[in-house]
Amino acid sequence: MNTVKTVRELRAAIARARSEGKQIGLVPTMGNLHSGHAALVSKAAQQADFVVASIFVNPLQFGANEDLDTYPRTLAADQETLLQAGCNLLFAPTVDEMYPHGMTGLTRVTAAQLSNELCGSRRPGHFDGVTTVVNKLFNMVQPDLAIFGQKDYQQLAVIRAMVLDLNMPVQIIGEPTVRAEDGLALSSRNGYLNEEQRALAPALYRHLREMADAIKAGERDYATRVTQQAAHLEAIGLRVDYLEVRHATTLLPAQTSDRDLVILVAAYLGTTRLIDNIHLNLDNTL
Ligand code: PAF
Repeated sequence: MNTVKTVRELRAAIARARSEGKQIGLVPTMGNLHSGHAALVSKAAQQADFVVASIFVNPLQFGANEDLDTYPRTLAADQETLLQAGCNLLFAPTVDEMYPHGMTGLTRVTAAQLSNELCGSRRPGHFDGVTTVVNKLFNMVQPDLAIFGQKDYQQLAVIRAMVLDLNMPVQIIGEPTVRAEDGLALSSRNGYLNEEQRALAPALYRHLREMADAIKAGERDYATRVTQQAAHLEAIGLRVDYLEVRHATTLLPAQTSDRDLVILVAAYLGTTRLIDNIHLNLDNTL
């Protein structure tokens, strides 16, 4: 696996792969890779002949008081993870390489309206930062397909909307969330948790599952259920940012007649904000 840091080297390597008739798969990441990322790369290796991963901690998607400076940068370990997972080429640019003219006054991609909900309303500008950098990566790599984790459910929806709205010729694949044995969704931010917080964190998924089971069993009073379940989470020490039942595609508040649902949660443990979700199709529950 080669690592390149410039767009020029990236394009040259991709041109070689293309000239050999290879289909290109892209896995965009911010590094500090775990088995969830490895699963995205393995999936890409199954679906494409040449897998490109990117590692770039994108300043454009971090708010002023967020963890841009402390976000873990672990390139050497990440290279090993990518190699093992079947990656062919790593693109690890600097901020100057990605934004050579700075980030002020930059042409940006405004994310679809669904980006204003949920995480978007708490992190203004976040999804515009994501769509802008993902669009740049798509233009640099011109992949046939790109793979994203379903853990970032709203991000995946926003990227799908961008690709559809802007007629981008790339297939978007969402991969299921990889979880620790106790159910906690793998995330680079789990590393911020102390021992006590780590022990509490699986409650998020437990509560999502309880809600999903209740809805499958016929519960339709979503508002009451959310209030109860959020109160339980607060009682054991999590600070709930949101807990919502939404339509799985539009991400609008779920109506009782909706069949395709997603339950999404964001909660703080100390200063660490974790997110998780469960997708629930009521026409397809075995
Ligand atoms: O999910 C992430 O790691 C990032 O938001 C992404 C998609 C790599 C864009 O910076």
